[in-house]
Amino acid sequence: KRILLINGPNLNRLGKREPHIYGHATLDDLEKDLRLFASQIGINLVCVQSNHEGVIIDKIHEAGDTYDGVIINPGAFTHYSYAIRDAIASITIPTIEVHISNVHAREEFRHTSVIAPVTVGQIVGLGLYGYNVAILAMLEKLGGKVE
Ligand code: DQA
Repeated sequence: KRILLINGPNLNRLGKREPHIYGHATLDDLEKDLRLFASQIGINLVCVQSNHEGVIIDKIHEAGDTYDGVIINPGAFTHYSYAIRDAIASITIPTIEVHISNVHAREEFRHTSVIAPVTVGQIVGLGLYGYNVAILAMLEKLGGKVE
C-alpha cells in the first residue's frame, strides 16, 4: 500500500516552533521515523510538506490518482480552507486528518475543522504519535493488518 503524508504550513518548523506545544523533534526526524514505522508494516509512506495552499491541493489531486490513502495535517488551513476540503472531497481514496496538539484545548478558532467532514476521521492531541496512529488506522481502513 502507498500512503501520502502531507504536512501543511509551518510544520517545516517542527522542533523550533513552540516546542512546548509541538515537541522537539524536527520534521526530518518525524518523517524518517514514520517511513521506517510504515515500512515495518508493509506500507510505502511518501512524505511531503508545503506552506502553500495550491501546492497542497495539487498533491491531494495527484495522490487521488496514484496512492491508496492520504494522511494530512493541514496546519492552520484546517480552520478555513474550503479549497483543501474540496480537493479532499474530489478524490475517492480515504483521507485521515492529524493534529499534533489538542486543538480543542487551545484558541477558539482552532476548535473548528472545515476539513474533518470529508475525512474518514481525525486524530487530535496525541503529539507526534498521532501520525503513527493514523498510519495504523489507514492500514486497517485499506484492509491490511499488522503482521
Ligand atoms: C496543528 C494545529 C493548528 O491549529 C495549527 O495551525 C498548526 C498545527 C497541529 O498539528 O496541532 O499549524 O495542525
